[in-house]
Amino acid sequence: MAYSDILKTRRSIYILNDQLPVSQAIVAGRIKEAISLSPTAFMMQGIHAVILTGDNHKKLWDKIVYNTLQKIVPAEAFKRTEIKLNTFSQATGTILLLRDLEAVEQMRKEYATYADEMDNWSWQDLGIAMVNIWNSLAEINVGANIQHYNPLINDEVKATWNIPANYQLVGQMVYGGIVSRPGDKERKSGDELVRVV
Ligand SMILES: Cc1cc2nc3c(=O)[nH]c(=O)nc-3n(C[C@H](O)[C@H](O)[C@H](O)COP(=O)(O)O)c2cc1C
Repeated sequence: MAYSDILKTRRSIYILNDQLPVSQAIVAGRIKEAISLSPTAFMMQGIHAVILTGDNHKKLWDKIVYNTLQKIVPAEAFKRTEIKLNTFSQATGTILLLRDLEAVEQMRKEYATYADEMDNWSWQDLGIAMVNIWNSLAEINVGANIQHYNPLINDEVKATWNIPANYQLVGQMVYGGIVSRPGDKERKSGDELVRVV
């Protein structure tokens, strides 16, 4: 697929199932490749991931996020929440995206002149890795969407999957087989957003 077609294919796809068009190993390989090859500021390489599959994926959505939200979402609104969480649970897996805060701190010390920028750059590193994963999965017809139930779920997620204390949970990318694709979204055109002088 041409890169331009990958850009058009990548969407926030919410209606997913557990029938991947490729093996779980291929998906994991794509995620590892995207994270390892993504550029990072000063070669920090502080973006990590834990891929939840099978019962682990279900546990995240059916137990951890469900129970956390049940405590704070008003009862009358919870039905909608439940329906939404079910769509995530019905997908194949979830990629927990993590930022290594110790790596950021290390870089702040090593490159003191840029210390104030380092955290900002680490967030940019995250965005780059995130979209590279998303695009790479889109190319092999695996659908995905990105969720942010952090920081509400961070402590429980870290304890459940033994995630180092210095890793901050910064996103949950849900992936799976595509049941249906969303319609086109209204977007500003490139001509509106970009000026060539
Ligand atoms: C940094 C970032 C954070 C996002 N957070 C969420 C989120 O928490 N939940 C969600 O459903 N979508 C989230 N999205 C998806 C956007 O709403 C979506 O990408 C945007 O509306 C464009 O739609 P598209 O992905 O189909 O092109 C996020 C996207 C980005 C880039």
